[in-house]
Amino acid sequence: MDYKVFVEEQIASIRKTVGNGLAINALSGGVDSSVVTVLGHRALGDRLKTVFIDNALMRQDEPQRVVRVFADMCIPVEVVDARREFLQALAGLTDPEDKRNAVTRTFYSKVFGDLVRKSGAKYLLHGTILTDIEETVAGIKRQHNILAQVGIDPQQEYGYHVLEPLETLRKDGVREVAKLLGLPPEVTRRIPFPGPALATRIVGEVTEERLQTVRAATAIVEEELANTGVFQYMAVLLGDKATGIRDGKREFGQIIVVRCVDSVDARIATAVELPWDKLRRICKRITDIPGVNRCLYDLTPKPPATIEYV
Ligand code: XMP
Repeated sequence: MDYKVFVEEQIASIRKTVGNGLAINALSGGVDSSVVTVLGHRALGDRLKTVFIDNALMRQDEPQRVVRVFADMCIPVEVVDARREFLQALAGLTDPEDKRNAVTRTFYSKVFGDLVRKSGAKYLLHGTILTDIEETVAGIKRQHNILAQVGIDPQQEYGYHVLEPLETLRKDGVREVAKLLGLPPEVTRRIPFPGPALATRIVGEVTEERLQTVRAATAIVEEELANTGVFQYMAVLLGDKATGIRDGKREFGQIIVVRCVDSVDARIATAVELPWDKLRRICKRITDIPGVNRCLYDLTPKPPATIEYV
């Protein structure tokens, strides 16, 4: 594919569809939504309003980091605090699909619906990519950002049109476009991070306390594996507890799984053979997190596993 032509076509198409109207998009800071943000701003200028929705499920310092990167590119990003709405919607849920569904509904119907109504925007630009669509259609998983493909008409249900300029690209293609658009390496080389964020890395109920645990573990894993150049790495909090010993006493503690995989486009993936020293160091730091007394390394390829746990 000629990505230069792709960029020109998408900019022209967004301009034509939105006409003189207003559009809005939610930026998570991942490569997909970052590319959509730049394409949208090139097409519409200040007729595109970009928001970062703080859904309580983000990694450490994520809102500030994302706003800074885009401020450097002269693209203003408004942070919307929706932590309470998402935590309330997730309270008491343990089923993976129910959790994803709660994030989708809260995002599109409630938080985004309100924002769109207030802004007067009739168009939502969204970073759905081909892999999301394929896996949703195949019934492997309902990605949080798929609407039309699962029979939801956003115009009818939420009152706005969804434009998905990246729906013909896979992750590798999106990265090429990101480079072409001049996005910084911090974005183009950033590992994938799912829309439902840390909710996909907590097995069982998502609570503020459990988010704090998985957020701390995520920061350690990302720091330790930052220079490996592999496709994706993460920490996952399991739903069960395990017996351990701390300060000479029995402790029933949390279990964190470390996952580090290589992949080209996320359709298949293999676990990376990390050096033992590195794993031991990660394990030591993770079991220093209060309440965590076990750290496991996941060797499972995709398939049969998926990359995320929820
Ligand atoms: P799985 O877990 O399905 O993940 O093997 C494949 C790739 O997709 C990412 N992922 C998501 N990305 N919204 C996204 O934008 C989602 O709901 C979602 N779920 C998974 C995952 O991190 C991996 O790179």
